[in-house]
Amino acid sequence: MAYKALYRTYRPSTFDEVAGQEHIVKTLKNALATGKLAHAYLFAGPRGTGKTTMAKLLAKALNCDEGIGHQCNECKNCKAIIEGTHPDVLELDAASNNGVDEIRDLIDKVKYGTILGRYKVYIIDEVHMLSTGAFNALLKTLEEPPEHVIFILATTEPHKILPTILSRCQRYDFTKLSDNDIKNRLRDVLNKEGVSFNEDAIDIIISLADGGMRDALSILDQVLAYSGNKLDVQDILDIFALESKEEKLALLNSIVSKDVSDVLSRINRYVSLGTDIKRLTDDLLLILKDILIYQSSRNTSCLEVLSEDEARSFFKLLDIDETLKMIDIIMSAQKDYKSVSSIIPLFEVTILKLITAKKDGEAKEEIPEPQIERPLPKPEPIQQKSVEPQKPAEPEQPVSLFDQPVEEEKPVVLSKDVLVIKDTRKDNSFFVNDDLMINIMVTAKKEIKNQLLDGWSNLKRYITHPTLGKIASLLVDGRPLVASNKVLVIEYQFPTTAERANLIENQEAIQNVVETVFGKKMFVYAVSRKESVRCQQNYMNKLQISKLPKADTVNIEFEGE
Ligand SMILES: Nc1ncnc2c1ncn2[C@@H]1O[C@H](COP(=O)(O)OP(=O)(O)OP(=O)(O)O)[C@@H](O)[C@H]1O
Ligand SMILES: [Mg+2]
Ligand SMILES: [Zn+2]
Repeated sequence: MAYKALYRTYRPSTFDEVAGQEHIVKTLKNALATGKLAHAYLFAGPRGTGKTTMAKLLAKALNCDEGIGHQCNECKNCKAIIEGTHPDVLELDAASNNGVDEIRDLIDKVKYGTILGRYKVYIIDEVHMLSTGAFNALLKTLEEPPEHVIFILATTEPHKILPTILSRCQRYDFTKLSDNDIKNRLRDVLNKEGVSFNEDAIDIIISLADGGMRDALSILDQVLAYSGNKLDVQDILDIFALESKEEKLALLNSIVSKDVSDVLSRINRYVSLGTDIKRLTDDLLLILKDILIYQSSRNTSCLEVLSEDEARSFFKLLDIDETLKMIDIIMSAQKDYKSVSSIIPLFEVTILKLITAKKDGEAKEEIPEPQIERPLPKPEPIQQKSVEPQKPAEPEQPVSLFDQPVEEEKPVVLSKDVLVIKDTRKDNSFFVNDDLMINIMVTAKKEIKNQLLDGWSNLKRYITHPTLGKIASLLVDGRPLVASNKVLVIEYQFPTTAERANLIENQEAIQNVVETVFGKKMFVYAVSRKESVRCQQNYMNKLQISKLPKADTVNIEFEGE
């Protein structure tokens, strides 16, 4: 015998077998019981949610020999409807027969009485696909339908149907099926088929089906064709090129621990395996959503994909700002996927961006309440802070060439001859050339940089601020690289962010935020990671050939001074 797809085998044969759509079943049953039937119904809703099924059930309920409202599935009317051979139940697929002739043909038959049943039922599937001429022909019939005729129009796109048709129909909106409805139906089918299964496997199918019962059953069909009499998580992952939850969590872990090489090797593996990247992106978003829910409410009942332990483990690694930022990055990637021919490079960039969303630094600190009232409280200026007792040494900080040993505060000789930063404007941005960068580096003070680093997360408090927020979040993305009394150089992972920070139009606002948060007026310049490496090499070369300028011969002056 030819194989029959599961979704056809398990088509509901009575109203009571329909999963979900309770409101529709109830109203139809009621109309059948009271005889208050409409002449035309419109069944609208997503694919595979039961529109055609419901239309056939209604046809049976109208014609069953046992009486109106019954669906015995045994009588000649029921059987003929099930087999699709009933002379009074006519199915027209507008997607394939959208000509005026077909409709006219149909209308011709409308005036004749029934042959076998009580009602003539016209089921027009995908009715939005009818041509205008056919629509108009249909409209005429809908205006004055004979007593014994009932139209059931079905569509996934009700907005494409002419208002004149809509107004003549009783409309029923089918909804996507809930996870639970699908789960129960799948369990039922699996039991009847004698297939062993575990719940995780069912959950994966549900997530793939996206509320469509036909899709859920087709997916199940596909998996069973591959794996025989058991439903296994790994089989589903293999067939649909999905990554396991463990893999997704491991990827996220590498992202937040900024393990770039591990992240890149994972991406390579996905590419070589042909992983469904879009779905992987969607899944990462769901995970982050759960993390955010847990961070903001500690509510575990709303977690969709993570267990409480998993949510808690990320809670320690990320703060709300970082999570929100990662969510933003993923959502914008999802949007961009639609407009690129190959999504892999975009996926790679997205994952690298996620790495930058996690700020540098060690343990997570308590997130201060956002302070949005004005005037903003002025935090202690850096000068005062430096008087605080020495913190225990920070061995975890890699030693950078930029970090000059603290010099005793000898008065700097101000010679006006040296470079001034206003010479560094280039079009609409600041540009610091290598010589000037060397000058900045030799006057840098590790102590100042460390104070800035310590307080850098205070910038987060201003992210929600109406005027400073935008700049604060721009700054918080970077990290102080070199700082002297007058100049602060920030490093960003990517050149585009550095470029934004270097726009002349942003400088004043940046200085304001830095002054507000750190009590220090400084010229702020940004470099990308790549530039910073280059500057470091340059400094090193100069150091080796003793060509570094002496700190006290350098004066840096910024515009407006
Ligand atoms: N609500 C439901 N309850 C139980 N099974 C359903 C339901 N909806 C769909 N199915 C299953 O999916 C199959 C296809 O459903 P149906 O043809 O009714 O969907 P549809 O809404 O008409 O979809 P389309 O818009 O693609 O025409 C059914 O045979 C049945 O196995
Ligand atoms: Mg249908
Ligand atoms: Zn019957």
